[in-house]
Amino acid sequence: MEDATYQGFELDAETALALLDWQLEMGVDVPVMDAPIDRFDLSARAAPAAAPPQPAPVLELSGGDDLSARVAEAEALAQAAGSLDALAAAQEGFDGIELKKGARNFCFSDGNPKARVLILGEAPGDEEDRQGRPFVGRAGQLLDRMFAAVGLARDAVDAERAIYIVNVLTWRPPGNRDPSPDEIAVSLPFLRRHIELAAPDLIVLMGNIPCQAALEKRGILRLRGQWVQAFGRPALPMAHPAYLLRNPAAKREAWGDLMSLAERLDSFSV
Ligand code: URA
Repeated sequence: MEDATYQGFELDAETALALLDWQLEMGVDVPVMDAPIDRFDLSARAAPAAAPPQPAPVLELSGGDDLSARVAEAEALAQAAGSLDALAAAQEGFDGIELKKGARNFCFSDGNPKARVLILGEAPGDEEDRQGRPFVGRAGQLLDRMFAAVGLARDAVDAERAIYIVNVLTWRPPGNRDPSPDEIAVSLPFLRRHIELAAPDLIVLMGNIPCQAALEKRGILRLRGQWVQAFGRPALPMAHPAYLLRNPAAKREAWGDLMSLAERLDSFSV
């Protein structure tokens, strides 16, 4: 490999490889920023050769005044949707979220929309982005095993035995970073309508981001296991399966939460 320059620095091959390794360790797995950079724009490239090294671009959404316009547009589109199919089409077509430009696929939902239980996750990860379905990576496999233990499955035809899976965000944030408050704000009108149309009996808030979106609270390890009202329905915050993969000891409490969910379902079974 030949030596090169990077942002004005001389880079030898070894340093370049170390830099790539470090980026991978930090979770960078797609070479895109939140906002696209037009590399064909010659004026952007015509920086003076001797310019001092610039700090890395700050990851920043447009936010500000235009945020309220984007939220209002999302609200109008969501309210106009009379079915889940119409809502999916409206949300996929909505351009008020920059993440759409960097994502591979729109990730609306999975499972049985008639299910009594709706699982609300955070945002698509790499595998979800590839497949366009929520919770299909490692965390999703654990989620399937957890709910199978209480007789629930995403592929169950019977609404009594089924789950329906939705995320707060439908587009993948690069590098699996947390969604920003702006991204949650423009996604919320669609999410509220999504839950209204699916009309589940119970909601599971899977991790911090759903608690932030639904309850304006974080601190899942304090919130978990306590029934609350979210989107006008009974909801149970639970630790995210990705957290359980990293902290297997927490599975014991998660099992208790699943028992609580099963009991609540039985208590008003039809
Ligand atoms: N984590 C989530 O919260 N949702 C997914 O779809 C995948 C991982």
